[in-house]
Amino acid sequence: MEFSISVSNNQNPFNIDVEKFIEQFYGFIQINHLYDSAIHQVETKLEIIDSEFQSRFSRNPIHSISSRLKSPQSITQKLIKKNIPITAESIISNLHDIAGVRVICHYIEDIYLIADFLSMHDDIKILNRKDYIKNPKPSGYRSLHLIITVPVYLSTGKKIVPVEIQIRTIAMDFWASLEHQLHYKTKSKVPDELSNELKVLAETINDTDLRMQNIYHRISEIDPEQ
Ligand code: GTP
Ligand code: MG
Repeated sequence: MEFSISVSNNQNPFNIDVEKFIEQFYGFIQINHLYDSAIHQVETKLEIIDSEFQSRFSRNPIHSISSRLKSPQSITQKLIKKNIPITAESIISNLHDIAGVRVICHYIEDIYLIADFLSMHDDIKILNRKDYIKNPKPSGYRSLHLIITVPVYLSTGKKIVPVEIQIRTIAMDFWASLEHQLHYKTKSKVPDELSNELKVLAETINDTDLRMQNIYHRISEIDPEQ
């Protein structure tokens, strides 16, 4: 189906290049569809890993999965910050976190297990891996971040699409969600005293995660058949 829109000058009070605007607009809609499809692919892969674990070992490494597409406002802000043109092409080639998937696991070791299983898929490529569990951020933030690419098959051919995956435990997610909210609550800098307290809490949470994992192992040893 072809669209043909003509706008006379007196209907175009902003004096914009309407043809170019429409072209960009359709470009953005296609980007949305492409990244949304990539999210579906990754979610399906994760669900299959989790259900296979359930059927083989009667337990689920994944507690929950959520996803988001970066909002047009955040995309624009990031492009302006990086001094990159705001076009569909530059979004695709410069931003790797348009599609984001967050995987919440039960135990720390499940995080690495999920990352390892995903990297075994031969249609997935790991572009970047940042281990903020072994090397937490100065804030205390912990998570495993992967930038992967996944193929999406469209009528126009195969597209290789980047997806950012954040994998963390329930406890790490509890901390990250509240810490994020607290930073949004204030426009000014959070006082050092409070940032330090948040960092100490992140360490306490990490200690709790390790102890819960240890209890899980000890309970599994009681009845190894299970
Ligand atoms: P961005 O420009 O934010 O995408 O940074 P980046 O590409 O260098 O990635 P990085 O791995 O540093 O972090 C990306 C995402 O991780 C952020 O958008 C947050 O969701 C999360 N994150 C990173 N640091 C923190 C932190 O200190 N606290 C919280 N709550 N989340 C964080
Ligand atoms: Mg990022």
